Amino acid sequence: MSASLPPAIKDDFPLLSRSVHGRPIVYLDSAATSQKPRAVLDAMAVYYATVNANVHRGAYEIAAQATEAMEGARRAVARFVNAASANEIVFTKNVTEAINLVARSWGGANLGPGDAVLVTEMEHHANIVPWHIMAAERGFELRWIPLTPDGRLDLENLDRLLDGVKLVGCTAMSNVLGTLNPIRRLADAAHGAGALLLVDAAQYVPHLPTDVQALGADFLGFTGHKMCGPTGIGVLWARAELLDAMPPFLGGGEMILDVRKDGFLPNEIPHKFEAGTPPIAEIVGLGAAVEYLSGLGMDRVREHEVSLTAYALRTLSERYGDDLVVHGPPEPAARGGVLSMAYRDVHPHDVSQVLDQHGVCVRAGHHCAKPLMRQLGVGATARASLYVYNDESDIDALADALAEAGELFAW
Ligand code: ALA
Repeated sequence: MSASLPPAIKDDFPLLSRSVHGRPIVYLDSAATSQKPRAVLDAMAVYYATVNANVHRGAYEIAAQATEAMEGARRAVARFVNAASANEIVFTKNVTEAINLVARSWGGANLGPGDAVLVTEMEHHANIVPWHIMAAERGFELRWIPLTPDGRLDLENLDRLLDGVKLVGCTAMSNVLGTLNPIRRLADAAHGAGALLLVDAAQYVPHLPTDVQALGADFLGFTGHKMCGPTGIGVLWARAELLDAMPPFLGGGEMILDVRKDGFLPNEIPHKFEAGTPPIAEIVGLGAAVEYLSGLGMDRVREHEVSLTAYALRTLSERYGDDLVVHGPPEPAARGGVLSMAYRDVHPHDVSQVLDQHGVCVRAGHHCAKPLMRQLGVGATARASLYVYNDESDIDALADALAEAGELFAW
């Protein structure tokens, strides 16, 4: 274990003590979802056992406590990403819903024929399909930033690509390549061209210290389940003046100040965008997750992942040489701990099945990034992804299990 994180950190995560196929589990799929520390599981159980009530409604004691538990978590999340105010934190189901909210609400009000939205060829489907849907409805153009051969954004023609663009959508860190993108540079270029910047930070916020104000973005989405929190809770952060000006996304309870037979008055932000009973226990769990990660220190989380990524790249290269390709930038400091592998001529699904027999969990598939897969010229990859609880023994187990995949399946 890197000196920078507590050596017994695996003990915080109950699931990591189980076995799979008679072997100790080696969990290397945190880009898909992270495991949950006991602090998060306990916070949710205690909430249900002692405080459970609906929020923003009841005048009784536990209803006020439930509301405070939810709003306290919102403040903790705001601090975690250095938002100017907790009102800029809108709770959504996940990043997909956060981006759909922006596409439908901001896009519906601001995009039309003659406009363009610029995305990158390394986006997750969550930052592509909402724009396809809205482009078909509103008649704007969807344009693409290409990639370099080593999996970075090719920004050579950025000024030309920005012509007529009203919004740039970019992942902060690719879920396939691990590439860390130059968000501040994109923000400055977008603003210089009169456009806004939306950042898909699903793979960034869990792994690096995040300061939304320093990044210079206008919208930024992230999700709880990839950062030690529960599923079913995500966040849209946006600058308050943008949220204030945007129409509601979903209508119903919670999001109104008044409803009459001839119309309604929307609530203040962020509640204007949170129709219906929110996922209160999940919000409490997310609050506990950001406290847990803050306790570790996000600088140390990043340091740990850079050093473990370097170890993984070195180990795989020493063991397998040219037989194994890891897509994306070769320098650990330019990427996150996502290792999308092509191993000889073995199909990624076969790789992942053999690894599973060794207790090693990796994801095989297109990773919801089909335009990127087409650019790479592959249908799928076997992807190992790292987090705070992984250590060098997990990388060694991966490397050992790969040998058997080669023996069984390679020509
Ligand atoms: N977006 C998640 C992944 O990359 C599910 O696996």
